Amino acid sequence: MKATGRKLASLTAYDYPTAKLLDDVDLDFLLVGDSLGMVVLGYPDTTGVRMEDMLHHTRAVARGATKTWIVADLPAGSHPSPEAAVENSALLIEAGADAVKIEGGKECLRSVLAIRGAGIPVVGHLGMLPQRVREEGGYHIKGRSEEAAANLLADAKFLDEAGVSAIVLELVHPPVAERISQSIRTPTIGIGSGSACDGQILVLHDVIGLFPWFRPRFAQPRADLASEVIRSAEEFVAATRSGSAVATDQTELVPPGQGAPLLEG
Ligand code: KIV
Repeated sequence: MKATGRKLASLTAYDYPTAKLLDDVDLDFLLVGDSLGMVVLGYPDTTGVRMEDMLHHTRAVARGATKTWIVADLPAGSHPSPEAAVENSALLIEAGADAVKIEGGKECLRSVLAIRGAGIPVVGHLGMLPQRVREEGGYHIKGRSEEAAANLLADAKFLDEAGVSAIVLELVHPPVAERISQSIRTPTIGIGSGSACDGQILVLHDVIGLFPWFRPRFAQPRADLASEVIRSAEEFVAATRSGSAVATDQTELVPPGQGAPLLEG
């Protein structure tokens, strides 16, 4: 894809219904991101997400998405050593992921090589690293100084040589993201890093407007599901209280285990 200039497109997924819907969209991969800590579990950032959360949500996504490549995040604290990285990556693969994503550059190299050595595809993640948001005191653009840009490029080259499948570049100064993308063989997947990356990824909730309390400026919403949730729930409350709209038809009940017909009736 990189060679032909075809851009990669990816979104996050955290549960069965959205994974099943997105499985029919021409996405290049789904990410079970640890952003689930914020947009699904209500934590202030991703640092509180644990392996058990990632396994729970990866299993749900894998039940829904049977065709699309699934990448699952190694959460904060899950790779203190290469051995732990391999062990936790294997658990994510067993839960249904096809690859794991790990935040960090040179400092993670031994873990990346160990995971690759165990036959598990790895996606890298450079630039703003949400798992370090507390140490860094917020979400800041990375690579603005010459030194920071050179460090990012060096990290990208380490990951490239380690054979990662893709590298997410988060909040990287766009000219630096472009330089990195042109300097390595691995496709770069940008988020808030400009249009010159080899692909783009966004948090699903930002795209469909399901997390109205915070939306990064680089994420263009393409729907407003939050308003739809409120509108339909309010309509149900009003209909229930007035007694006007209680359906009595039971002929459409589906036997347990057979699943509901999708978007019918
Ligand atoms: O956790 C996540 O959703 C991510 C994306 C922001 C790339 O890492």
